[in-house]
Order: sequence, then structure tokens, then C-alpha cells
Amino acid sequence: MPRTAYVNGRYVPHAHAQVGIEDRGYQFADGIYEVVPVIAGAFIDEDWHWDRLDRGLAELRIDRPVNRKALSLIGRRVAGLNRVRDGLVYVQVTRGEAPRDHKFPTKPVPPALVVTARHLPVPKDLSEARMIDVITGPDERWARPDIKSISLLPNVLAKQAAAEAGAYETWMINALGEVTEGSSANAWLVSRDADSGRVVLRTHPADRHVLNGIVRTALVALSGQHQWQIEERAFTLDELLAADEAFQTSSGNMIRPVRSVDGRVIGTGEPGPVVQEILDDFAAHVAAQGGV
Ligand code: PDD
Repeated sequence: MPRTAYVNGRYVPHAHAQVGIEDRGYQFADGIYEVVPVIAGAFIDEDWHWDRLDRGLAELRIDRPVNRKALSLIGRRVAGLNRVRDGLVYVQVTRGEAPRDHKFPTKPVPPALVVTARHLPVPKDLSEARMIDVITGPDERWARPDIKSISLLPNVLAKQAAAEAGAYETWMINALGEVTEGSSANAWLVSRDADSGRVVLRTHPADRHVLNGIVRTALVALSGQHQWQIEERAFTLDELLAADEAFQTSSGNMIRPVRSVDGRVIGTGEPGPVVQEILDDFAAHVAAQGGV
């Protein structure tokens, strides 16, 4: 079935969908994006995605191309036209098309909006633990990774390094020796205090140095119902290697337990009990939104 894309007000064959070569996204990576998971036809945590898009647009002073209701309708229409019931809706907004000049266009131009949808097989059972191997590398990104900018070159290189090493993801380490996040996912560890037995889930704070992931947001919201606590505090590679369990979260791949980091096995190397609980929780969270 031929795919359909939305480009600046029109639904067009994906293969012929175009923006101009002077689009500022193409020239300067002057734009942002969102990836919304679709499961059994349901847009998961949709509002949080539009909230983050709005925030990014405000940070970059790019006008909203359409209001939230229209964006949601466009997303659904693109998913429908492409018969995507399980997959991802991709939304990209750039500052628009103007003669190449670093500063913002003096004559206002409309922001450019592109929406596409792609099928992605979703595991039958979302609670299933699909383990991944991770490598580490330097975090070479700009100082504002909290903005979901389309400028992803360091992320691309980090993901490629993982692929070339036979791993799934690269977790990035900053100049302080802290793990910030993966090239396209938030990074977590699980540790147990030897004395108190208290279980702690740790992830980098949602400050300017990481993307505040939506799956991450959902886990924080769900954490109230558990014995364990979430600590938004960065961890080092040594702390990671000593962890009982580790996992990553993203809309593209949901929750993935980590088997090894740089070839060193984490915990038992099998899906741990805490990650399994989180997988079960998140599956219930998705099911509650209609994404069986
Ligand atoms: N990536 N950190 C980075 C750097 C990311 O690119 C992503 C998502 C995340 C997780 O965010 P969320 O839970 O909202 O998906 C964290 C998307 C899926 C991508 O670039 O394709």
C-alpha cells in the first residue's frame, strides 16, 4: 500500500512528499520533532507529547503551525491513511523556508509541519522482557538536549557506534563521568541498599542535559504504587556496572532491560524482578488507554 505523508496542509504520496531546499530544517536543523507511539490504534500519552512539542517550540521561538486539536486530527488521519495501528507517528516542525541566513527570517514565514506514520510490530505481550546490550561513549551533544531538536548528529554517531559494536544502544557519559542518557532513550539503573534492602530506580534528572522522555514521565507518574522509589540523580559508569538491573525507556522501543554494558553483564544478565514489574505496569498503563 503506498504511504501518505502530511506536508504543510496537504496529504501527499509519501514517495513524493517534499519541502524546499531552503527549509531551515534542511539548512540549519532549525526545528524540533516528536515521536508518538501508536498501539492498537491508541495514541499513547498523546497530550504529554504535544506538551513537550509546545515547550520546544516556545524555547526556540517557532510559531505553532496548527493548534493541538488540529495536530491530533492530522496525526490520526496520517495513521489511518497508512493503516498504522501499531507503530509511530512522526511530527516535525521547522522554522520554515527562507533564503539562507542564520538569523530568523525578517519577513515572517509560516513554520513547516510534516507528519508521517510508520508501522512497527509491537510484541504481542508488552510485558515481555526483550533484553539489549549497551555500550558507552562520550556525550558530545549541545548544551540543550532537553529540547527535542532535529539536530541529532551526535546521537546518530552514537547509535552507529553501537551498531558497529554489535550492541543496540550507546549510553552517553558527560565530562563529569555521569551517564546522561542513550542516543535515543532514557537510561536507568536499579539498585538495592545493602542494609535497608530499599530498592531505588535511578535516572538522570530531567534538567537541561537530557530529554525528558515521555515513557520516563509515565514511569515517574506510576511509581507511587510501589515499594521502590525513583531517584532523579545521575549515576556513574561504575555505579551502573554494580547495579542489580538496568533498563532504558523510549517511545520507539518502550522499556528494554539491559543485559550488558561494554560487554560486562549487569546483575544476573537476565531480566530482573524490578524491571519485570515496570514492564507489567507499563503494559497496564498502555492497556488503560486502549492500547491492548
Ligand atoms: N527518541 N532521550 C533521547 C535522546 C531520545 O531521542 C528519546 C526518544 C528519549 C526517550 O523519549 P520518549 O520516552 O519521549 O520517547 C530519550 C525518539 C523515540 C526518537 O528519536 O526516535
